[in-house]
Amino acid sequence: MPHISMTEQTIPMIQIKDASKYVGQRVKIGAWLRHKRGSGKMAFLQLRDGSGFFQGVVAKADVPEDVFETAKELKQETSMYVYGVIHEDARSDFGYEIKIDQIEVIGESHDYPITPKEHGTEFLFDERHLYLRHIKPYATLKIRNTIIAATYEFFNKEGFIKLDAPLLTGSAPEGTTELFETDYFGQDAYLSQTGQLYAEAGAMAFSRVFTFGPAFRAEKSKTRRHLNEFWMIEPEMAFFHQEQSLELQERYVAFLIEKVLEENDQELDMLKRDKELLKSYTQLPFPRISYDDAIKLLQDNDFDVEWGVDFGSPEETFLANHFSKPVFVVNFPKAIKAFYMKRHPEREDVVISADLLAPEGYGEIIGGSERDTDYDYLKERIINDGLGVEEYQWYLDLRKYGSVPHSGFGLGLERMVTFVTGEEHIREAIPFPRTMNRLRP
Ligand code: 4AD
Repeated sequence: MPHISMTEQTIPMIQIKDASKYVGQRVKIGAWLRHKRGSGKMAFLQLRDGSGFFQGVVAKADVPEDVFETAKELKQETSMYVYGVIHEDARSDFGYEIKIDQIEVIGESHDYPITPKEHGTEFLFDERHLYLRHIKPYATLKIRNTIIAATYEFFNKEGFIKLDAPLLTGSAPEGTTELFETDYFGQDAYLSQTGQLYAEAGAMAFSRVFTFGPAFRAEKSKTRRHLNEFWMIEPEMAFFHQEQSLELQERYVAFLIEKVLEENDQELDMLKRDKELLKSYTQLPFPRISYDDAIKLLQDNDFDVEWGVDFGSPEETFLANHFSKPVFVVNFPKAIKAFYMKRHPEREDVVISADLLAPEGYGEIIGGSERDTDYDYLKERIINDGLGVEEYQWYLDLRKYGSVPHSGFGLGLERMVTFVTGEEHIREAIPFPRTMNRLRP
């Protein structure tokens, strides 16, 4: 045990994020070394402690020789306690620095693989367990955390309760081709694609619920917007029609953006995200366009699309950019949507659904609909879609005992995070991404 003097015991141990409150005071900080530079007389240590980043300065003339020698020998990602006085430093990105007078090394680090030079994406994700420590993941995942916390805040205020849906299920409501199968004591089981059907049961019990959990899709898509394991927030509301749901969705999305602007100013700067542009997306309402009109608009702009197709990435990008805002595309063809969506009262071929498309190429961030309440119709759809009536009998029951109009939607957390942070690829938006070619770390 290193000897700790009385004075060291009484100096405050602080986090870098709180440095501004300790200007002029001697403090202790537990930190890692990101990198360092220096001369024969000075060592500049770039430090991080998980709460923030800043610089530690060691001046040869001001410290005992062994402290300066230790500073010079430190390797990238060595962990340590540093002691010193906090100063304002207008030149640094972080506004403050610590003038170090003592260093206690805790964990040595040798040959840290992610050196300060440029590295390829595959390499960085092979090293994701270490890459998490770097600026871009740090800023992105802090913003993810704000969005998670803001989601609870928003729905709690709106009178929702969080309902936990199971992750092992016997059903496949979003299509049977994208399932991860597993054996459940001799029965076929699947990793959940959505919590929605359980949320519908919850809405009949608590009126307003949201599920928030991982969703698994065995999609063989290698796009910048697809993960095979992603997190989804799925609110479900009893006595709600489509228009009430859209109004809730836009307020929710605007709230998330406002919260990030409020709480993550520094992280948005680290990621060079245009904050004025983000702010412009909080002006409500978001435009709405019918699927029919969206097809016409696309055709008028030389897209080769026919009524009845689903939109791909170029179409989604065009539509949202056309309005310079998130845009709702409503009432999609029945044939390309899930069995539970409510039929349009005047149109056999469309359902009361809505996708919210984000501008700047971030694609669909929300998919939702009003739910059909007709027992016989749903039963027939389940049979026709080959889903197995027995598996869905409990779901059909909800239409038998006091069914009410209800609506819900699912927001893809990582899609929202990429949109807000301006990240190019969705794998940046989750700590340990699962994509077709990545199961580890
Ligand atoms: O449109 P989806 O498939 O809708 C549902 O799952 C409904 N049960 C939701 C509901 O009404 N309760 O997915 C909803 C959202 C998409 O808009 C997208 O943001 C995200 O989930 N998502 C994905 N995110 C990442 N990777 C994938 N493979 C995704 N698939 C969907």
